[in-house]
Amino acid sequence: MSQKILVIGSSNTDMVVKTVDFPLPGQTVLGGKFLMNPGGKGANQAVAASRLGANVRFVTRVGDDIFGQQALEGFRKENLDIEFTGIAKEIASGVALITVAESGENQIVVASGANMDLKPENLSDTIFQDTAFALLQLEIPIETVQYAIQKCKDLDIKVILNPAPATKLDESILNGLYLITPNETETEILTGIRPDSPANLLEAGHTFLKRGVQNVLITLGKEGVFFMNHNLTETIPAQVVQAVDTTAAGDVFNGALITALANGKDFIEACHFANKAAALAVTRMGAQSSAPYIHELN
Ligand code: RIB
Repeated sequence: MSQKILVIGSSNTDMVVKTVDFPLPGQTVLGGKFLMNPGGKGANQAVAASRLGANVRFVTRVGDDIFGQQALEGFRKENLDIEFTGIAKEIASGVALITVAESGENQIVVASGANMDLKPENLSDTIFQDTAFALLQLEIPIETVQYAIQKCKDLDIKVILNPAPATKLDESILNGLYLITPNETETEILTGIRPDSPANLLEAGHTFLKRGVQNVLITLGKEGVFFMNHNLTETIPAQVVQAVDTTAAGDVFNGALITALANGKDFIEACHFANKAAALAVTRMGAQSSAPYIHELN
């Protein structure tokens, strides 16, 4: 049995429209099919891990509205432990407006709503019990992220931070972090180095290590992932697929990665597993609607 995984993060309802071209400022374009499906980086990562066999406790905050009720119902169906997920009064649930181009690329605007009401005081000590690994993102208040990470460090829980969407981070968050998983844009925002060459990747990796991060994993889209710690540097190629929608590919990657690590896999094995899961996800539309089940990866 794998160790319990704690995911603390956002939950959104995604409103997705396919489009041939992204609209320019002030422009209206007629799009294609519309899809409404559950999203939010926290929820996507929790669901991805659960579908791959992890035992997941998910802590989020939804609004007291129909989207919030649907989200809670969905989490129960996905076998997530949501005992510590709360409902915010008089705040709307999180919503994301997403356009997906024919290339599979997307543009996303999030109305955070109740996600920004997830405060440190909502995280009781019990939440952190029986947990070996925790996974966080940056779609909830930064003071909540900081509080949760410190709590995990104090309790020797291994924390993975997926710093999305990126924002400058306090040194105390990075120092002692078990693993950080930025993409290229996030790496540039956090280190000031654009990781567009092998030398720059190394420099960006070293910058994180110097700040006290124990393991660094930079996701490079089609190019795979770059892993680095004080003993090992390796690039693991991605699987080649025809992308339909890249939304939540990073979330599925992170959910799969933590599942493999909690199952005792090493970083390189975990990256191969996560690459496989993310590759399958990009061949399907939507966020949680694209996350694969374990039987699809065997
Ligand atoms: O990472 C994809 C997610 O970002 C979407 O599901 C959307 O809700 C936003 O949070």
